[in-house]
Amino acid sequence: MREVIAGLPGSKIREVANAGLGRPDVLAFWFGESDEVTPEPVRAAAAASIAAGETFYAHNLGLPELREAIAGYTATLHPAVGVDRIAVTSSGVNALMLAMQALAGPGDEVVAVVPVWPNLTAQPQILGAAVKRMALRPQAGAWKLDLDELLAAVTQRTRVLLVNAPNNPTGWTLTRAEQQAMLEHCRRTGTWIVADEVYERLYYVSGAACAPSFLDLAAPEDRVVAVHSFSKSFLMTGWRLGWMVAPPDLVDAMAKLIEFNTSCAPVFVQRAGLAALAGAGHSVPALVQRLKTCRDTLLPALAALPGVEVAVPDGGMYAFFRVAGQGDSLAFAKHLVGDAGLGLAPGAAFGPEAEGWLRWCFASREPQRLVEGVRRLAGALRL
Ligand SMILES: Cc1ncc(COP(=O)(O)O)c(C=O)c1O
Repeated sequence: MREVIAGLPGSKIREVANAGLGRPDVLAFWFGESDEVTPEPVRAAAAASIAAGETFYAHNLGLPELREAIAGYTATLHPAVGVDRIAVTSSGVNALMLAMQALAGPGDEVVAVVPVWPNLTAQPQILGAAVKRMALRPQAGAWKLDLDELLAAVTQRTRVLLVNAPNNPTGWTLTRAEQQAMLEHCRRTGTWIVADEVYERLYYVSGAACAPSFLDLAAPEDRVVAVHSFSKSFLMTGWRLGWMVAPPDLVDAMAKLIEFNTSCAPVFVQRAGLAALAGAGHSVPALVQRLKTCRDTLLPALAALPGVEVAVPDGGMYAFFRVAGQGDSLAFAKHLVGDAGLGLAPGAAFGPEAEGWLRWCFASREPQRLVEGVRRLAGALRL
């Protein structure tokens, strides 16, 4: 086995979750998914596809009608993109891995804005690239980017700038001006931007249908890959369906690369994706409204606890907070499961920059669960 594979760290979130497995009394907020089931019309579309016998291999880049639908959906949010810029993938994480396989190899440098969902930084390492971590920093609970520091770190040696906003776990979002500066800088250095925008629709700034996206700025030939997913905005985590928007040449290459990875996304899953996009005009704003209620239930209650430092996130579905005196997030998260029946993700899972912090996924169909969770946290802290 390659050394880098043998040395891959196990998931610290799983380590906490395993401590609570088989305990029905545990309120679990550790994973990055809602407890809501995929809407019925989406499930029905997949069932109908299977019933119709759509069980065969399909196009590497996705069904033409799904690529068309993704282009149509994108045009409701961003400047229109041609179908030749869209590749359907078997999940967002698959799109990220494909992008990395295409762009970064042994000895290449990848600059990543962290803390971040650990898969993003593990992928280039698996491929032999070196990852330079550029840390967001907390100020009164809100995580901030030092743009000058980041731009100074991205040089002609940098193959890829990896940026996830809205960010998992911190909730940090990018401004349009920051995106513009990054794009202009990367045009000069010849660096690719891989923008993980899977949370773009989970954005709570009033009047905005989505978070600022690199797709609003990038020309078709710009070295930008925007990664999207059906998982979060359409409650489809288990379906494993996503897509990327990239320059046409890279999408051509993707057809070959997808062949060697998954060959294609299953047709019945793509039919479900089509149904999800058909209902997006209604379903996504309704979901965002529910998530906003969750956020606005959890955050003030958390912030009111003495010793808790947290800021209200503009995007994503996580509260990211720390408790004074609790420096070891893995030990603290395990203690919360064991003693209080409260399941949270330890900040250390997202990198050393986030040690001492905890991530709480607030996507729940039942906001009262969040209130009960805060009660348990307060109890564990003897408040
Ligand atoms: C930042 C980020 N990117 C990508 C993904 C991948 O989502 P999926 O592979 O389910 O599409 C996740 C999932 O948690 C995520 O948090």
